[in-house]
Amino acid sequence: MAHKTRVFSGVQPTGNLHLGNYLGAITRFVKLQADHDCLYCVVDLHAITTFQDPDELARNTREVTAAFIASGIDPARHIVFNQSQVSGHAELAWIFNCVARLGWLNRMTQFKEKAGKDREAASAGLYVYPNLMAADILLYHATHVPVGEDQKQHLELARDIAQKFNNDFAKTIARAGYPDGFFPLPEPLITGPATRVMSLRDGTRKMSKSEESDMTRINLTDDADLIAKKIKKAKTDPEPLPSEVKGLEARPEADNLVGIYAGLAEISKDDVLREFGGATFSKFKEALAELATARLTPIGDEMRQLLADPVEIDRILSDGARRAHDIADPILAKTKDIVGFIRS
Ligand code: TYM
Repeated sequence: MAHKTRVFSGVQPTGNLHLGNYLGAITRFVKLQADHDCLYCVVDLHAITTFQDPDELARNTREVTAAFIASGIDPARHIVFNQSQVSGHAELAWIFNCVARLGWLNRMTQFKEKAGKDREAASAGLYVYPNLMAADILLYHATHVPVGEDQKQHLELARDIAQKFNNDFAKTIARAGYPDGFFPLPEPLITGPATRVMSLRDGTRKMSKSEESDMTRINLTDDADLIAKKIKKAKTDPEPLPSEVKGLEARPEADNLVGIYAGLAEISKDDVLREFGGATFSKFKEALAELATARLTPIGDEMRQLLADPVEIDRILSDGARRAHDIADPILAKTKDIVGFIRS
């Protein structure tokens, strides 16, 4: 039986939602709504793999929800919810903890980066984080997962987990009426000119929520002056812009700013260089600041408006969670049958 297509993706409520999250993920979530059933999840269980102040976690959860809606995600037609309201994520993650191999987890570069030198001090949750991510997706039998480039390895692991589960439990899966496997192998959707937005201060480092200097990123809540200032101060090189994409090789800062422009204008890097090839950075940065302000400040404004009514945001999240349960509960129940758990 072919699996119905379904889109799932998640964003962590860990503060400082930035242009990388917006171009690499959220804008693409918005596009996929036109012809797919989508679930967009604020992944609070993932957030606590590193300590979060409880008040801030709640505030950040509402902030990501507001960013989704202000960017154009429609919570009436699609499902927007926070992960901890659907307990199936944690239940399926436990089963996957028993399917995934230590050797697989040991290869995860994001764990190595986040745990840093003192691995002994990292939480156990941080280590099994990718198993929870696989559970997020597979709890809904989701088939397509829009993410930025940095999540590619986690998606490959989710596919490995689905495949191993399908193999390990082939006998009971066939008996349950799924000759082609119970879990679909989810496909990453990593497309467009801005799947890896880099720091404004160092074109070899990813733009990140956790980078100490706020000047390295543009936040969705930055005002026009701050956006212009950050772009003006962004690192560049002394050459004018090239006329072709090939000329961006070995020029990480130029490549990054051109990619950001392309992402915001929804055109290709080639198109950007057709217009700006030969231009100085000061001219290009002026145009980029104007474009970024026009795209982002209405979103920041709407986020602030939405956040003024937290009761309404909480209502949207619990309505989404109820509808997420409707999809997840029968899949989780079947999973339990397949594994051999007795249930009433
Ligand atoms: P998170 O919260 O770190 O980031 C959310 C999304 O933003 C993308 N992203 C970027 N894209 C381009 N350039 C950047 N500099 C950049 N920084 C972040 C991320 O790739 C991501 O798509 N593990 C995930 C959340 C998650 C998830 C899931 C995603 C949990 N469960 C299930 C998909 C499916 C994460 O930490 O994303």
